[in-house]
Amino acid sequence: MGGTRQQILALMMEKGDDFVSGEEISRRIGLSRTAVWKHIQELRREGYQIEARQKSGYRLVCKPDRILQEEIAYGLRTRTFGQALRTLKSVDSTQKIAHQWAREGAPEGAAVIAEEQTAGRGRLGRFWHSPPDSGIWLSLILRPPIPIAQAPQLTLMASVGVTRALNRETGLRVRIKWPNDLLIRGKKVCGILTELRGEQDRVHYVVLGIGINVNVAEAMWPAELKGKVTSLSAEAGRTFRRVPLIAAILEELEQTYAAYLSRGFAAVRGAWEELSGVIGHLVTARTPEGLRSGVVRGLKEDGALLLETEEGLISVYSAEIREGCEIRSF
Ligand code: BTN
Repeated sequence: MGGTRQQILALMMEKGDDFVSGEEISRRIGLSRTAVWKHIQELRREGYQIEARQKSGYRLVCKPDRILQEEIAYGLRTRTFGQALRTLKSVDSTQKIAHQWAREGAPEGAAVIAEEQTAGRGRLGRFWHSPPDSGIWLSLILRPPIPIAQAPQLTLMASVGVTRALNRETGLRVRIKWPNDLLIRGKKVCGILTELRGEQDRVHYVVLGIGINVNVAEAMWPAELKGKVTSLSAEAGRTFRRVPLIAAILEELEQTYAAYLSRGFAAVRGAWEELSGVIGHLVTARTPEGLRSGVVRGLKEDGALLLETEEGLISVYSAEIREGCEIRSF
């Protein structure tokens, strides 16, 4: 969207339910009345419902649930997160775009968001289902001054930030499942993918990929995901506007990340344990060393999952976990 239409929108938003006259718009933006009218028509084509009344002017009645840079920027109260922002209609993966941007020097907090991904990436090389206009498919670039070995803590940090934002904005009860899933009533509503580039022991940059099923209807899920995944709308029985959710996520993430950088993982650990849906549960972890079953006792100070097994307390650094005691493979 062009800067002029953004300015017109801002003027209408400023007035809330009141009208702004065509004369005022043309004076404040420096356009002819005919040009104002043309831009209003263009905004309507983009999905904005604008009431036009002779003598009163224009009033914004309804905004489309579109992920537009200007809409996000308008209400965003962050210092850096999302301040550099690319919003795209359809991409293969926002991770790919973010990696390229990071290599070109994108600043910390730069974000890429798409309406649709045709080749969304999940953990362990899996496909991430990202249908159009119904989710938040977001990649955030970070440049944390931490050693590579600590990078998995960023996934836990992000889980806390995103869960806080979703709980705050939706009133739903989102819970974290180690290491990167957010669940509602046991079904996955969000996945987090942390990818990094670094050398020796230095992180160059991290791309934090966050996929949230916002308004994905039950019928849109492929057969293999049915029953395992859910969306905010399916759980709440109503749809959600994605722009305020995106702003809340960027704000909570920025705060959680700042606390993590200043006080280390200790700043996140307690919150993670509180928001976790697995503490005290019997789980089976598929680790590189094989299947280990035990009761989740919490997180170690470095972010490892503490499992109380028959052989004693063990630290799990990399695994997929399932509820219950299992001997068959996942
Ligand atoms: C997982 O649970 O396996 C992680 C899923 C991460 C999906 C997000 S959507 C935005 C970003 N772009 C991608 O291609 N993947 C991540």
